[in-house]
Amino acid sequence: MDKFVVRGGNPLLGTIKVSGAKNSALPCMAAAILTEDEVILENIPQVRDIETERKLLASMGAEVELGYGRAQHRTHIRCAVLSDPVAKYEIVKTMRASSLVLGPLIARTGVARVAMPGGCAIGGRPIDLHIKGLEAMGATITQEHGYLEARTDRLKGAHIVFDKITVTGTEDLLMAATLAEGETLFENCAREPEVTDLAALLIAMGANIEGAGTSTIRVQGVAKLHGARHRINPDRIEAGTFLIAGAITGGDLNVDCCEPAHLSALIYKLEQCGVRIDVGTDHIRVRSGGDLKAADISTEEYPGFPTDMQAQYMALATQAEGTTIVTENIFENRFMHVQELNRMGANITVQGRTATVQGKTPLQSAAVMCSDLRASASLVLAALVADGETILDRVYHMDRGYERLEEKLRGVGAQIRRMGDVFGKK
Ligand code: EPZ
Repeated sequence: MDKFVVRGGNPLLGTIKVSGAKNSALPCMAAAILTEDEVILENIPQVRDIETERKLLASMGAEVELGYGRAQHRTHIRCAVLSDPVAKYEIVKTMRASSLVLGPLIARTGVARVAMPGGCAIGGRPIDLHIKGLEAMGATITQEHGYLEARTDRLKGAHIVFDKITVTGTEDLLMAATLAEGETLFENCAREPEVTDLAALLIAMGANIEGAGTSTIRVQGVAKLHGARHRINPDRIEAGTFLIAGAITGGDLNVDCCEPAHLSALIYKLEQCGVRIDVGTDHIRVRSGGDLKAADISTEEYPGFPTDMQAQYMALATQAEGTTIVTENIFENRFMHVQELNRMGANITVQGRTATVQGKTPLQSAAVMCSDLRASASLVLAALVADGETILDRVYHMDRGYERLEEKLRGVGAQIRRMGDVFGKK
């Protein structure tokens, strides 16, 4: 398994480019199931989860060209024939977001078999709300041998109020509703930009959707959808991770090709910490504003402070003067990075869903273990300011959602390299 070797101490200087959003690309690729025409998606990030989605769609009979080289960051998908509408466990177990094919499959073919995603490091992450919504739209869903089997003649519009705000639940059911008979009214929807991005693609494919990006979405079902070409949003979590990298190293970093409007909660919080932020149209400049000050966060659904930025922010909080209270309201076990940060010299205690960070604590290099995508990013940020050389193991977690992270960081002055598993060498 690959490792990262990071020597701390360099301020990050220059321009770093943000890739397309993994969490937009995944539902948009699944949306191609809804039509027999070709769907072309631009600005696709070259990350492991996208390759997993390609394998998943191809395993069902889709033709998927995932652009490397000539067609960098683009994919052409045609689901003319879905010969095997099954999301197999071997693939689903590596990526929970595979459940995003459930709604499109049952809407397009009337049948779907999707392996139940197991839990994951950050929480149980059930998909009961996806199931309840499809049943409300007339699907019959049974569970056997670890698989969900969904059947229907044709989905019917319904009035669905989400018990909890769920991003992929909103996306899954939104896709299903586009081909349902009649009108579907969704309330208590997720308002994340990834939902809005998906809706933009669906509308380009001929869907009739109003209200995406708000908590109430209305869909008039249509008989068929056609192909479309769509450009994926910039990745707001990658952009946020780079903003914190610039702040924590006391650098002067221009985060380019991003959408500042998607980062308001983080920008507001970084300014409270004393970080200097200059917002442009598609870029943000982040500079040190002197000593960092502690500022509490509480993760909320969008447009609140994103749970996917909590671990990265906690690394910054270890360098802020004072006590930072971090409350994680979305997932029940999203503090896996705390123990590793403490092994680097941080002073963090956890009580239920609240972590208390005492800063400022100098961080020392250590051998640390990555546990999930965003916790891994938090450890990279800590290593960028730690004294000495930190070894991060299991960086495949990062490869799932960050494109060429070490190259991008090296390009702005970080001392970071990837160390493959050389046989017999540590
Ligand atoms: C999406 O996950 C993202 N993944 C996650 O990003 C992100 O952390 C999360 O939204 C919250 O913003 C993708 O978009 C692929 P949820 P999702 O359904 O949709 C509970 C990353 O780092 N819930 O919004 O799976 C659930 O347990 C990943 O890129 C139910 O109870 O999250 C959680 O407590 C990590 N029943 C809460 O809702 C359901 O049927 C929010 O989960 C669905 C969800």
